[in-house]
Amino acid sequence: MAFQNILFDVHDQVALVTLNRPKSLNALNPETLDELKRAVDQVREDDGLRVLVLTGAGEKAFVAGADISEFPKMNPLQARLFAQKGQDVFFALEELPKPVIACVNGFALGGGLELAMSCDFIYASEKAKFGQPEINLGIIPGFGGTQRLARLVGRAKAKELCMTGEMIDAATALQWGLVAKVFPAENLLEETLKTARTLASKSALALRAIKYVIDRGVDADLKAGCTLEVEAFGLCFASEDAKEGASAFLEKRKPNFKGSFIA
Ligand code: COA
Repeated sequence: MAFQNILFDVHDQVALVTLNRPKSLNALNPETLDELKRAVDQVREDDGLRVLVLTGAGEKAFVAGADISEFPKMNPLQARLFAQKGQDVFFALEELPKPVIACVNGFALGGGLELAMSCDFIYASEKAKFGQPEINLGIIPGFGGTQRLARLVGRAKAKELCMTGEMIDAATALQWGLVAKVFPAENLLEETLKTARTLASKSALALRAIKYVIDRGVDADLKAGCTLEVEAFGLCFASEDAKEGASAFLEKRKPNFKGSFIA
């Protein structure tokens, strides 16, 4: 089924998904969330796709939030279902067993910041702006923002951002550790795709293990998290890629990882 609200492109082994509703600054309506879920499923199922990059169409925005034009027609139950839908899609993204990079080319507000935070890491343009402005609409974040933001930048900064509704620029986001790297706007996509291609050349099993252990371990106590790490470390040795990695190092050559999940 074709997509109406997103673009799905493939660059080598990298899927590039572009939120494509520039007239509303790529705001997330229910149809766009459904399409995003389908795109995530497609990347999960396709063994040829190793990395997912998410970005926004146009010069101005990554995603300017949930689509506010949907709000006036929502009763409390429908609002709850809408928030649940967003959370389900973002959990599917977070749990995709392949790396996901948010390529934030402009405003990442509300649902846009929540979407970016559900990715493994964020690369941003110098022009990017981040915020949870829901308070200005008399509501709160609903797609996981209060929780992921507090885990990423700490409770005080998360509360300040959610309570004031103010935006921060890319330099501040970098300083806070919300963003991994900042690039000039004109280089952002190419730099992101460069990193994505690098990830596509690594062991898929090891990447999957890193993602799983960090995401599951960060909410657990240190001992439980380290136990997960021990198990995943052992599992990596079941793969051809682990044999190839050590052999290549000892033979002083570049490794050629197959990326198969099967040993
Ligand atoms: N939902 C629906 N439409 C949105 C939107 C959103 N979250 N964000 C922007 N748009 C629409 C605007 O209504 C406008 O549509 P129009 O041209 O038909 O009037 C268009 O996108 C351009 O936005 P505009 O506000 O004119 O651009 P700007 O440069 O003056 O301001 C923002 C940019 C991002 C600061 C501003 O659009 C904004 O505050 N958006 C809402 C952010 C928000 O509250 N997100 C959380 C939602 S829960």
